[in-house]
Amino acid sequence: MKVMIAETAGFCFGVKRAVDLAFSNTNEANTFTYGPIIHNEVVTQALEQKGVYAIDEMEGHDIKRLIIRSHGVSPEVYDQSKEKGIEVLDATCPYVRKIHCYVRDYDAKGYHIIVAGNVAHPEIQGINGWAHGKCIIVKDAEELSQMALPEGKFLLVAQTTYKKEVVDQMRAYLDKQHIEYEYINTICNATKERQEEAALLSQKVDCMLVLGSPKSANTKKLFEICAANSKRSFCVQGAQEITADMFNGCETIGITAGASTPQIVIDGVLDFINKLE
Ligand code: F3S
Repeated sequence: MKVMIAETAGFCFGVKRAVDLAFSNTNEANTFTYGPIIHNEVVTQALEQKGVYAIDEMEGHDIKRLIIRSHGVSPEVYDQSKEKGIEVLDATCPYVRKIHCYVRDYDAKGYHIIVAGNVAHPEIQGINGWAHGKCIIVKDAEELSQMALPEGKFLLVAQTTYKKEVVDQMRAYLDKQHIEYEYINTICNATKERQEEAALLSQKVDCMLVLGSPKSANTKKLFEICAANSKRSFCVQGAQEITADMFNGCETIGITAGASTPQIVIDGVLDFINKLE
């Protein structure tokens, strides 16, 4: 069987940076990550074995060092850490950091900030904090059209992993309403590139494996894309969920993986397949 692995499979730049930072700082007790470093149990359990646990809030923990994941946080987390004498190890993705700066600066200039994104996502909650919680968070053009926007100047930015088409529809709505706004493209290409490659690869192969946690939104999206092209697509967390009969009659297998899937999982699956031959 021929195995084709997507070049974009696995960690994006920002996630790799955060995971590397976490694993290189397991030597001191009372080190925590603010939220799971990524949505992958293999990684979070490996960190727990080294004594680094995820916390959702700072209260109730004896924290010496706090690792900020790639999603970033609101300024309150830095302020509270400073007050409590906690050392912050900051793995906020530089692309997310840029959004924090835009939001902070435009808020200071009196703009209203519209953020295209999922209100429950930690990245959006962090971004909102940089405008003192005043961001207008909107999931799509329809929701935007139902809002009574205030008077004044607007800045439009988006969650880094948001779909460009959704933001384009929001822009079209604002244009149609003659609402003046500045737009800064904050969408990260890592997601788009991974999805485009998965779409192409799943059309070429007899069987497609999407590796990642069912809790990872981008893994689920990759699986949806692959399943639309190939009925023989499987979403698995690792080699332990693969059986030989998945590949019955297959000559080519494609593999991609979500942005939070570690290389060790991809290698384990490759080993499994190689042993079948
Ligand atoms: Fe950063 Fe883009 Fe990954 S924003 S965390 S490199 S998906």
